[in-house]
Amino acid sequence: MNLTELNRIATAMVASGKGILAADESSGTIKKRFDAIGVESTESNRRDYREMLFRSSEAMSQYISGVILYDETIWQDAADGTPLVKLIESSGAIPGIKVDEGTQALPMCPGELVTVGLDKLAERLKKYYERGARFAKWRAVIDIGSGIPSMTAISVNAHALARYAALCQAAQIVPIVEPEVLMDGDHDIDRCYDVTQRVLNKTFQELRIQRVALEGMVLKPNMAISGKKSPKQASVEEVAEKTIRLLKACVPAAVPGIAFLSGGQSDEEATAHLNAMHKLGPLPWGLTFSYGRALQAAPQKAWSGKAENVAAGQRAFSHRARMNSLASKGEWQS
Ligand code: 13P
Repeated sequence: MNLTELNRIATAMVASGKGILAADESSGTIKKRFDAIGVESTESNRRDYREMLFRSSEAMSQYISGVILYDETIWQDAADGTPLVKLIESSGAIPGIKVDEGTQALPMCPGELVTVGLDKLAERLKKYYERGARFAKWRAVIDIGSGIPSMTAISVNAHALARYAALCQAAQIVPIVEPEVLMDGDHDIDRCYDVTQRVLNKTFQELRIQRVALEGMVLKPNMAISGKKSPKQASVEEVAEKTIRLLKACVPAAVPGIAFLSGGQSDEEATAHLNAMHKLGPLPWGLTFSYGRALQAAPQKAWSGKAENVAAGQRAFSHRARMNSLASKGEWQS
């Protein structure tokens, strides 16, 4: 393992004014997104859509540091035969790959999930590296509800995240460690804070036990935020203040960067929260976005599967990427 190189990549992923495009929707998830805009989820439509994003030259060269791909996409070529990975590289962004294989029900823990995909991961990482991936992502999902999460769910998911991260570093790939506490419930921000604290503490404990080099990883957490169905919605300032307090308490300064998921926040909320956090600096790590929905909802709608809308889709993507770039420097204004 070359830790200097891992650290260089991790640092580039969270470079000032840049963030990560999470375009790694599984086949099931992208179908849901396409259903919403009336587009059939065929292999060529998925390719055309993602090619549109990766050819958005303003966004890709100025605001996007890296792109997380799904397995299908990393092997796909653009309509003119150029590998999509090459389009990303030539814009100056770093290609990455989602390597978890989704979730399964966790035995003995009703309603809880464990992320799977460790089998043969070393071999898969080798192939992805050869194809150009320099970072990877693994998402653990923790739900908040009555009596959950259990310590069992937190612990097995943290263990799997650390196993994945160690395998990545051994393959010279920077792991994005993503323990996502969902914002789907009716819990308030303080319950989200408490659960996320337990999850992050356990995750870093496992990372240490499994000898993962903190300097060569990126953390992708949720924000401390109210559940979507909570009657008590925290303000932008409260989300920013509690999230930074939480992260300072749990994330060692050796970690080069933190890149948030959007998790179901609206486009503008995701931007406003990141911006408000940067008003609370200086911060010990790079702090930016790794948004999926909050970067793509607008371009999906503008594109709607029509070739004549490609320019409009790219404008919508570049706009959201620019707003989040400004937010990652605390320079966004509503
Ligand atoms: P969202 O920003 O839509 O939550 O997606 C980010 C991601 O990569 C989830 O795994």
